[in-house]
Amino acid sequence: MQSIAVIGAGTMGCGIAQVAATTGFSVKLVDVAPGVLEKSGQRISESLQRLAKKGVLETSAVDAIQKRISASTDFGLARDADIVIEAVFEDESVKRQTWQNLDAICGDKAIFATNTSSISITQLASATKRPERFIGMHFFNPVPVMKLVEVIRGNRTSDATCASVTELATKMGKTPIEVNDYPGFVSNRVLMPLINEAIFAVYEGVAKPEAIDEVFKLGMAHPMGPLTLADFIGLDVCLNILEVLQKGFGDPKYRPCPLLRQMVAAGKLGRKSGQGFYKY
Ligand SMILES: NC(=O)c1ccc[n+]([C@@H]2O[C@H](COP(=O)([O-])OP(=O)(O)OC[C@H]3O[C@@H](n4cnc5c(N)ncnc54)[C@H](O)[C@@H]3O)[C@@H](O)[C@H]2O)c1
Repeated sequence: MQSIAVIGAGTMGCGIAQVAATTGFSVKLVDVAPGVLEKSGQRISESLQRLAKKGVLETSAVDAIQKRISASTDFGLARDADIVIEAVFEDESVKRQTWQNLDAICGDKAIFATNTSSISITQLASATKRPERFIGMHFFNPVPVMKLVEVIRGNRTSDATCASVTELATKMGKTPIEVNDYPGFVSNRVLMPLINEAIFAVYEGVAKPEAIDEVFKLGMAHPMGPLTLADFIGLDVCLNILEVLQKGFGDPKYRPCPLLRQMVAAGKLGRKSGQGFYKY
């Protein structure tokens, strides 16, 4: 693989594009919003400068890395890509429509990988005529820092596709871990009930957020407590994933805490809105 198209130039798309270009790939970055693409260039440039300052990158390499990324609102830019990595909004109908468009534009041999946090890979693959070349490639935020890529096989993903994506993730300096396609995969299936239970503990007055987070930092050696992490991920995103788990398994154990619903309705979404379990 030499050419990677990244669809969606938000938080994750920029991170994926940056890491792919840093590891020598030619990157085509596509977003529907022209303003987002302008910001993405600046965002990637700032992130690369920061890494150069820290000594993680040679300063002289920064220019060449940026030159390997071309950006456009035209999906035609993805036409010749060997693999397309999609990181658009976490909305099934938006993702299906995006993949249908790409299926008509891209070469038959191109692999399609979605960075979805929770939507079924098998269901998204059914929007295309290439379910055997469709896979989940779940990067973590911030992409330049986090080592894990959860590689998720859909029901019809071929061994060859899985092997190619595993090799690609490794070339991008990441550690791929293969899992199967069930709601929340492994990461969010295990993490979200932990976060939800921590929120229930606040709701029931068991302890204050600070105390709960300290328990996990000092007692379990977590680098940050579950409520700090929930604020970082976004409380709306946590609620959305819990709803996917609840619906996907039909099991009440995933029911979102009423306090979480109330905070999201009140616009307290965590770090990005200035308030969640903590003030920013
Ligand atoms: N943010 C995280 O921590 C995180 C972690 C892992 C996975 N994810 C997943 O990554 C994906 C993207 O998340 P994000 O946080 O980067 O979102 P974001 O809102 O920052 O970015 C999404 C981008 O997609 C663009 N977009 C929307 N529809 C499009 C389309 N049809 N074609 C092209 N671009 C389109 C938007 O303009 C926006 O720039 C989601 O599926 C999310 O679940 C997010």
